[in-house]
Amino acid sequence: MESSMYSILLFITLFGSSYLLSKQVFPDRSKPPGLNDRLKLWWAKEVTPDFHVAGRLSERQIKYASEGGFKSIISLFKYADNEPGDFGGDYLPTTKESKEIAERKCGMQFEALLSPEEDWCSIDAVKRLAAVLPTLKKPILLHCDRGYTITFVLLMHLANLTATDSAFEPRIDSSRFYEITARMGLDFTMDFTKEVVADITGEPIVKNPPVTNAEPDYWLDYWLGHPVYKNWYTAGQITRSHIELLEFTGFKSVINLRAGFQLEGKPSQEEVNLLNIPEKTGTYATDDNEPRQHKNRLEATRIDPIKPNSYVGPGSETNYESSNADEFGDGVGYNVETEKEAFTKSKLKYYHMPVSSGLYRKFFENNLKTIVKVGSKGPVLVHCARATRAAYVAILGAAIQHDLSFDWALQRSQELGFAVTPEKLPEVYQLYEEYLVKNKDRSAKEEL
Ligand SMILES: *[C@@H]1O[C@H](CO)[C@@H](O)[C@H](O)[C@H]1NC(C)=O
Repeated sequence: MESSMYSILLFITLFGSSYLLSKQVFPDRSKPPGLNDRLKLWWAKEVTPDFHVAGRLSERQIKYASEGGFKSIISLFKYADNEPGDFGGDYLPTTKESKEIAERKCGMQFEALLSPEEDWCSIDAVKRLAAVLPTLKKPILLHCDRGYTITFVLLMHLANLTATDSAFEPRIDSSRFYEITARMGLDFTMDFTKEVVADITGEPIVKNPPVTNAEPDYWLDYWLGHPVYKNWYTAGQITRSHIELLEFTGFKSVINLRAGFQLEGKPSQEEVNLLNIPEKTGTYATDDNEPRQHKNRLEATRIDPIKPNSYVGPGSETNYESSNADEFGDGVGYNVETEKEAFTKSKLKYYHMPVSSGLYRKFFENNLKTIVKVGSKGPVLVHCARATRAAYVAILGAAIQHDLSFDWALQRSQELGFAVTPEKLPEVYQLYEEYLVKNKDRSAKEEL
């Protein structure tokens, strides 16, 4: 009793008004997001380790989901056979096609819940989800069009379990619901959503819940991005089809942090995603191995060696991919020059500022002023391969542009799944401390 009183007092003294920020909002962020393939799955938003959410998926994304370890897919809506979707020119399959891809090509389970005219914001939708979950293997990727409505239905299901089972974890009450969704950049503070939240949790309607500050508020048209703060977003490797959508959504700039052919005078080409080939097998030849995209190496590293060739696509002569031009791959790996080239036709301002671990000090010295200036022009997408480097950079950019604290930066890094701590990431931690605490008076912003 005494010791708990003491810790409460200590807590209040230490954190004072930043109490809300210091509380752990997301259920578990001990592992970085993306399951077993973070390069392929950087866009899957983790709600709990078993449940991730997304927007409507392409065939390639369904395959990436299975290769990265998802066992099941739930589509909130049933997309009629005559209604394929379109994402920047990429074909999005109907429900029937998605089910076939998931089940037959990928060996996953697949369920779709509601007809498009049915109400997603309803007790009935939550019941429908509850009814299929026991039949599906986890982890599960749940999606709707833009990752918005499905997040509501999923969290309402967890809230119902919280309200009806005192032993259920993670505990989702209404205040935590609003905090999680605000941090995911989602706004459920309308009267009709608030009513369902109150119905399910059995709690009174929350008067002034926290509201997301993500801008523009229709950022979800590019649902793959991760909102960091106001105009700052992160992403992993974007594809050709994203460029048009980013422009349409209102982004002004894209900053690419991936290495090009050389970094610090050394060959530095990074990996590109390949179907049926795992991440982190290394781009170049080593003493023991041929280059990653060499036939022998590809065959030796396949995720599933017995997949039929048709898995890759009609007419494929192999059951794995050996190049991926859509994600700016060449015969060796990721080719930054083809990405740059693809942006020349767009109105977006494009910056290539390569960085990798061990180089952040020099990177911020050289680039932080430009980065903050880019932010002042409006929404900016900072991208790398897995959205990790992008998180470290976007957090500091946002903190300087918007005068946010060191504590905020650490908390936000944890929420995004890439906790910056003195143990895990001393390099970035020290730099955050220098820019946001020690050098605050002569910060990059004031020098601008
Ligand atoms: C909430 O949980 C209870 C107990 O498991 C169940 O009977 C009820 O149908 C659930 N409600 C919703 C909306 O899922």
